[in-house]
Amino acid sequence: MKTINIGILGYGVVGVGVAKLLKQKKQLLESRTGAVLNLKTIADIDTTTKREVELGTTALVSDANLVINDPEIDIIVETIGGETIAREFILKALENKKHVVTANKALIAGYGNDLVKVARDNLVDLAFEASVGGCMPIIKSLRESLVANDIKSMSAILNGTCNYILTKISKDGSGFEDALKDAQELGYAEAEPSLDIDGFDTAHKLAILNSLAHGMEINLKDIYVEGIRNITPVDIKLAKEFGYTIKLLAIGKIHEDHVEARVHPTMIPASNPLSYVDKSMNAIAIDADATGQTMLYGHGAGMMPTASAVLSDIADIARNIISGIKRRVPILGYPEDNIKPVPILPMEELYTRYYFRFEAQDHPGVLAKISGILGENNISIKSVHQKGKKRNGKVPVVMISHTAKEAWVQKALKEISKTDSVAGRPVVIRIEDTYQE
Ligand code: HSE
Repeated sequence: MKTINIGILGYGVVGVGVAKLLKQKKQLLESRTGAVLNLKTIADIDTTTKREVELGTTALVSDANLVINDPEIDIIVETIGGETIAREFILKALENKKHVVTANKALIAGYGNDLVKVARDNLVDLAFEASVGGCMPIIKSLRESLVANDIKSMSAILNGTCNYILTKISKDGSGFEDALKDAQELGYAEAEPSLDIDGFDTAHKLAILNSLAHGMEINLKDIYVEGIRNITPVDIKLAKEFGYTIKLLAIGKIHEDHVEARVHPTMIPASNPLSYVDKSMNAIAIDADATGQTMLYGHGAGMMPTASAVLSDIADIARNIISGIKRRVPILGYPEDNIKPVPILPMEELYTRYYFRFEAQDHPGVLAKISGILGENNISIKSVHQKGKKRNGKVPVVMISHTAKEAWVQKALKEISKTDSVAGRPVVIRIEDTYQE
């Protein structure tokens, strides 16, 4: 049986998971791939902390070059994270004609187009199943299983930290700060949680999915991103009363000559299965023309779910190697020459429905004033509700709009904020209720 040598760069949580799974599932992997997947060397600056892996013949070294420059190593797994050293090591590994497997979504979202070119020039593979949705086989699904489909849209919950926080606020009425603290204590959220709660991690993942779905260059910079910091228990409660759940969604939709790509808190109805995805779980709903709706649900993070996805890439590459094939499936699902830049719709051009909550003065004419400004800006209101108790002379007024243009909404809200009819900034949450089976 052919032996394929593997090196790991970075022996933290994911690196340990990959080493563990390679060791624990040695026989299963051999019988499924027809190759011996030999973990030859692991490199990490910390070689002394005890990890719960029986290394056997695997060497643990502090110098990454001993992995990157080892002529016997076929596949290098990067589990360092970040965009500096990881990028440098991946580039060196690709140039040394090693296949690379990574879980690093920030790196693929930010530098993927260049890395793909380097991999192509060196005739090696670059694989990143673990970069989006943890264990869910979304990359393989888009590149292979759905190859005969036009992907019309994708809506996804891709950040376990945000989903945990929103679920916590919804279930027990916690405020955002308390829910965040709880997520940090449970190890979901980082001490510096911005990457997750401000939506950037979700945007990284959406940039990757859009590229695979539509044959477009990876484009992170034009994705609209809004996180969950301003979501209050009041809005979650009111949303529930109207039959909606608030989720941080990644939304990607194809139009004739552009795509929509946006990440923001979104109100979705109970008919949308994503509304039942709770706690730290992730899910991706794909609407494609031949399949209709397809959904993947699973753990978006964690040692073993992530390691499972990394192993699926290792096994794919190992199978290619033993069949004498290189790069059987294009890295971004389309041969590189077929990948085009596709513009992302500027957010001001978006048409959708909206939930507004105003803290309105409780005196005659206020509602007429607010609705008047909305009307002057073409925004048609479907329903108006005065909800909750009067506080400091103000009452919460909620309005649900018909479809309106984002630019009109932002202009109207600015005008409303300038009047003395409302206090503070109005709350705006976009509604996505187009889910069809
Ligand atoms: N920080 C991410 C999350 C996990 O909270 O889902 C890794 O992508």
